[in-house]
Amino acid sequence: MSLRVSPITPEFAGEVFDLDLSQPLNKQQVEAIDKAMDHYAVLVFRDQDLSPEPQLRFAENFGNLDLGFKKISKSPDRLNHAAVLDISNVDATGKVADRNHRKIIGNLANQLWHSDSSFQTPPARYSMLHAVVLPSDGGETEFADVRAAYDALPDVKKRQLEGLHAQHFALHSRFLLGDTDYTEEQRQAIPAVAWPLVRVHPTSGRSLLFIGSHASHVVELSIAEGRLLLMDLLEHATQPQFIYRHAWKPGDLVMWDNRSTLHRGRPFDLSARRELRRTTTLETRAE
Ligand code: OGA
Ligand code: MN
Repeated sequence: MSLRVSPITPEFAGEVFDLDLSQPLNKQQVEAIDKAMDHYAVLVFRDQDLSPEPQLRFAENFGNLDLGFKKISKSPDRLNHAAVLDISNVDATGKVADRNHRKIIGNLANQLWHSDSSFQTPPARYSMLHAVVLPSDGGETEFADVRAAYDALPDVKKRQLEGLHAQHFALHSRFLLGDTDYTEEQRQAIPAVAWPLVRVHPTSGRSLLFIGSHASHVVELSIAEGRLLLMDLLEHATQPQFIYRHAWKPGDLVMWDNRSTLHRGRPFDLSARRELRRTTTLETRAE
């Protein structure tokens, strides 16, 4: 089956039409989405009326579900579905949380460039974020194409990256923002993991820079040299020519490949309600 996709840019981000994600997908439709993901890495589906249950069913087509940060935070769950992540500034009682609330502080790390769950084995494959309530201003999400960013590196830089690994740790991005209020048990809940700085995407075959704010240092280099390299690569990969910025409308579902992209949320008025729901799949699949 062919999927109707309109490129947002020729090689990165596409909008998909004529698909109701609340309905079960057949094998051909799943394959067509996978193929489009290999090309575009970010797909936008507009006007989707999705409660958590069908969003989960949709996600399950693309691999085992990831619990993300819930493995550490174990905060009260508004949505009552373990694998549906409440990406909102709303507390357990349904009110917009105070800006000093734990959840708000933790969520601010989403505004740093990152790849979801790059700090664990297996890492994440796709994330699917569905917008429910949005502030009138700000709160966009930006995506960077780390395949195009790799391709654009000079050959000498590509050679320099060969054999290097970045260590990723779940709390590193939080520590960067001064959010250090975690118990020893939480710090140890997800052991750090080292990934090659350059990975080859398993189905598209494209090389990509696997970086972002969960990466704390480069295993083979001094902390100082490794951090400078990571900062330099991040600066390179997030230049305007590699970016798609999504301005949300209620009902949008944006799906991205966490290998091929980095993403970050943009600031918004924290007293204005913003509610999105995320499902994420792992690189592994139930057969
Ligand atoms: C996420 C995330 C950014 C945003 O849900 O994984 O990083 O704009 N969200 O809410
Ligand atoms: Mn994220």
